[in-house]
Amino acid sequence: MKPETIAIHSGYEVDPTTKAVAVPIYQTVAYAFDSAEHAAALFNLEAEGFRYTRIQNPTTAVLERRVAALEGGLEAMCVSSGQAAVNYAVLNVTELGCNIVSVPQLYGTTHTLFAHVLPGQGVTVRFAESDRPEAVAKLIDEKTRAVFCESVGNPAGNICDLDEMARVAHDHGIPFIVDNTVASPILLQPIEHGADIVVNSLTKFLGGHGTTLGGVIVDSGNFNWKQNSSRFPTFTEPDHSYHGLVYTDHYGRAAYIARCRSVYLRTGGAVLSPLSAFLLLQGIETVALRVERHVENGRKVAEFLHADPRVEWVKYAGFQISRRTQAGYAAGESGGREVAGLPSGLDNSSPNVSRGTTQRGSIAGNDPAQHWH
Ligand SMILES: Cc1ncc(COP(=O)(O)O)c(C=O)c1O
Repeated sequence: MKPETIAIHSGYEVDPTTKAVAVPIYQTVAYAFDSAEHAAALFNLEAEGFRYTRIQNPTTAVLERRVAALEGGLEAMCVSSGQAAVNYAVLNVTELGCNIVSVPQLYGTTHTLFAHVLPGQGVTVRFAESDRPEAVAKLIDEKTRAVFCESVGNPAGNICDLDEMARVAHDHGIPFIVDNTVASPILLQPIEHGADIVVNSLTKFLGGHGTTLGGVIVDSGNFNWKQNSSRFPTFTEPDHSYHGLVYTDHYGRAAYIARCRSVYLRTGGAVLSPLSAFLLLQGIETVALRVERHVENGRKVAEFLHADPRVEWVKYAGFQISRRTQAGYAAGESGGREVAGLPSGLDNSSPNVSRGTTQRGSIAGNDPAQHWH
């Protein structure tokens, strides 16, 4: 199926009760049980179904299936923001005393999470000196639990060599986590290039309308937790917070999302509301068309700035794409984001450039959620 079709149809069959064609908004917290036995079976994970919206909801489940299909993954879990997605994706593979290795070019709040917040909780983040796979490889040790990067860095615009980075991670028996927010699954599917876990802020290109925060974690289902159980006992040994459940035994390839839901969404509680899920589904219906236009607009702005002698430099993924398109990334496209360096004193009163002392601007197409971070 083409992404345009997936974005409209995937993950939803006409509602069997009402025959509603559009995805219904199940704005409910709780669900009725057929009997006490049915309730017990649901809570003991012996029956499929919904128990409580903090854990799962039918409207949100459609969004989860839809984004999983767009990313080419096995399963997905939605959360209340992209930031919560990054946080839970990393927490789900780490424990006290462990580390992850990250490229240095990150969205600012993710950098803050990694540099200041996670270390306070006993998880160190080692920043590689560059986004080159060999720089990442140097920092991996027996306590490392994941390699992390943004497929296209925000705001640096660097494009990571996902295939090589995945190879480095897998050579060390650890998963590769990729934040795909800037590229979006329309331009790039990191799972095709070896990523095990993909996170997206739904707030940005996917939702597109700038009304609704949301995040999603997609699991490829490809990482073998059992084979690497010495690093990941939380997947392969009984979870005493959940009746001694062994995630890999109960869920097989879907263990990662199952644990993330049972442990982090259930107890951490960063839940996406069903109404937000509906609004994000509305946005996603047009994501392929919008991204096409973002790319067109982004290139025009980058070329315009590039041609202006007053602009000292323009950093636009499309201008450095030749090396990486050989790997087939982004189908030769590079998204709608560019960064420009303006010399001091240049009038920066354009609405795209913040007033005052800023000489460095990140300008993105016309996505209302993307202006000025
Ligand atoms: C690359 C990237 N990851 C994560 C986030 C966080 O997303 P949210 O604002 O939905 O929390 C952002 C936000 O701009 C981002 O650009």
